[in-house]
Amino acid sequence: MSSAAFGVKIVGAGSAVPDRVLTNADLEKILDTSNDWIVQRTGIHERRVVDQNIEGTFTLARDALRRALDDAKVQPSELDLVINASVTAEMRCPSNACRIASDLGAVPAGAFDLVAACSGFVYALNVADSLIRSGRHRTVGVIGCDAMSTAVDYEDRSVSILFGDAAGSVILQRDDERPGAGCIYQTMNADGSTWESLYMPERGHEIPEWDSANPIKIGCLRMNGREVYRFAVTKFREVIEDALTKTGLTVDDVSQFVCHQSNIRIINAAMEKLGLPEEKVHINIDRFGNSSAGSVGLCFDQLWQADKIRPGDAVVFVAFGGGLTWASSVWRV
Ligand code: COA
Repeated sequence: MSSAAFGVKIVGAGSAVPDRVLTNADLEKILDTSNDWIVQRTGIHERRVVDQNIEGTFTLARDALRRALDDAKVQPSELDLVINASVTAEMRCPSNACRIASDLGAVPAGAFDLVAACSGFVYALNVADSLIRSGRHRTVGVIGCDAMSTAVDYEDRSVSILFGDAAGSVILQRDDERPGAGCIYQTMNADGSTWESLYMPERGHEIPEWDSANPIKIGCLRMNGREVYRFAVTKFREVIEDALTKTGLTVDDVSQFVCHQSNIRIINAAMEKLGLPEEKVHINIDRFGNSSAGSVGLCFDQLWQADKIRPGDAVVFVAFGGGLTWASSVWRV
């Protein structure tokens, strides 16, 4: 069947966050920081963090997918593929996607984890849409999930204040009735020459020059905040501009811009430059921080459950992150 013969529909969404709340006041007790500094520089008031004795990215991602399946009224056995975007899976092998598919009863659906840091959910959405359009898959579970609290050094005040844990998921299905539905434009980009700005070292010799004099915990996220900020504040706007230009959509035509929650100042800068109205940009960074691959899916689920996404709507997903990577996905829902 030709790829133009059918579309792709979003049939359900779900998300999961840990119960445990880490407030700025909690961080003030363990770090040389203040609530005012964190709120002014990032917009974050609190974030969720896992209790590592009982939960992690496996449980969060699984719960988000289960909720999305329930929401879609789709049986796990109907899934023929599960893609889990994450940089904090508990094990390198097997992927969390394999364990999640098995736990929910989706065997023998294909399953893999995708590593694109904070861009992961948007990458996964694009890959899933393309595979359904190719005719090779019919029902795909997409998850974005990170528990960055398991990968930050809580003695490092420049990183630990930013991140929280969350998972968001959607179920995508081939739409035989509406060939125009689904992703109408997508980009996935990376520039690995900038990897040093945001990285998780596994070995001492991998630590780059700029960071070599700093106290570093192996396995923990390192970030050159100013570099990432400089990159993100321009790229975020450019990616949204490109999505609008290439699709011929105006801001008025789009019902929601579902943006990675990196820093409120980065989102606000794009909103100001592009004239995006507040009601079209869902913000939850104040309560959940930056949950890496979890953030876009979590935002989408909150919009979906609040009935703010309707059939026929144009929705723009946009994210950037470690790699450095960046991605967009424009949907006719
Ligand atoms: N509390 C108090 N002071 C802090 C602090 C904290 N948690 N973290 C850093 N500082 C200090 C710095 O040490 C520095 O002090 P100095 O001037 O005496 O050297 C000062 O605040 C300014 O630091 P700077 O790094 O320039 O701050 P900033 O305005 O750039 O804000 C970030 C820091 C991390 C909030 C900001 O750079 C940022 O958001 N970057 C992008 C991060 C991002 O989006 N990452 C995820 C990508 S997906």
